[in-house]
Amino acid sequence: MDGNHELATLGVRAGQARSDFNEHSEALFLTSSFVFDSARQAAGRFTGGEDGFVYSRFSNPTVSMMQDRLAALEGAEACVATASGMSAILAMSMALLKAGDHVICSNAVFGATVQLYSGILARFGVDTTFVSPTNLAQWERALRPNTRLLFLETPSNPLTEISDIAALSAVAKRAGALLAVDNAFCTPALQRPLHLGADLVIHSATKYLDGQGRVLGGAVLGSRALVMDGIFGFLRTAGPSLSPFNAWVILKGMETLELRMLAQSERALELAIWLESHPQVARVFHPGLASHPQHALASQQQRAGGAVVSFEVNGGRDAAWKVIDSTRLISITGNLGDVKTTITHPATTTHGRISPEARAAAGISEGLLRVAVGLEAVADLKADLTRGLG
Ligand SMILES: Cc1ncc(COP(=O)(O)O)c(C=O)c1O
Repeated sequence: MDGNHELATLGVRAGQARSDFNEHSEALFLTSSFVFDSARQAAGRFTGGEDGFVYSRFSNPTVSMMQDRLAALEGAEACVATASGMSAILAMSMALLKAGDHVICSNAVFGATVQLYSGILARFGVDTTFVSPTNLAQWERALRPNTRLLFLETPSNPLTEISDIAALSAVAKRAGALLAVDNAFCTPALQRPLHLGADLVIHSATKYLDGQGRVLGGAVLGSRALVMDGIFGFLRTAGPSLSPFNAWVILKGMETLELRMLAQSERALELAIWLESHPQVARVFHPGLASHPQHALASQQQRAGGAVVSFEVNGGRDAAWKVIDSTRLISITGNLGDVKTTITHPATTTHGRISPEARAAAGISEGLLRVAVGLEAVADLKADLTRGLG
């Protein structure tokens, strides 16, 4: 199919490759290797001189379909799927960075991303400066001659701060660096970072691309040169590859992506508006709220506010834990991106491994709760939260 279709159509149709059986639904090729007709063909496939599948660490038809569908949705030339969102960030970093390089990273990214840059990659000689996701001047001031990569999430996790992708792309370009955007919260259904000037898009497919909390997966997308020459080579050699089974689940998940993202965003905004008027709630964070500091930018950059609502309850950790422990419907789990609504206390779970100073700098207080809104009726979600809010 050509690339001129609407997003809804691409989500259902893009990337499908039928086998000789002419199946209607995409096939699951659960095989670790592929058989060759001859020694000559095996040699040709291994060297890349002949097209065809070889070994599922780096080539599998179901994984290819998933990569092609996601590339069509993001408007990317190329996509490499990985075993998880974190392995997507690792693969990108290992492929594109070397000892002596400098990274500028938003201080409001997922906790494990902070650990990866400040802990693991630092041991390999990559230095990272953390800056505010919304303060452009801080990004400019942090630039060094050896800055190679700017990395951010927007909206950020869990405070839904919005970074200006187009403005930061201009900063990166002037400095000869690359801009990578983690698009897990919005997905291409709501935001397409490559169209706004980003060089690379990262996904935790574990979240909304699957959409039903079943499998782990990740992806890196961008130009053919960046993704296929660099990141694919790392994946082929080091092997943080996506299983064909997980690829199949994510491929089918993408068929309902646009519908889910719009419906879940709508529910999240309704819940956020209600929370804003609750006497026990000190602050609510959702990009669709007029009170959100980057509401205007979010309205320009995103098609809807997304499904994550964070809010601060009066009374610190005890009050926040009371809300969690009083739920009967909402799931107490660290994951998000599910059609089942989830609730998390970021300070003691997803962001528990970063230092208290880094947590404070990222604005994650003890009273903060993150709700990732699913597809249940909003009235039932309000009733479930009301029990613990008192
Ligand atoms: C924004 C964001 N990026 C990356 C990740 C890591 O993804 P994964 O758990 O698939 O490794 C997460 C996980 O929660 C996330 O929320």
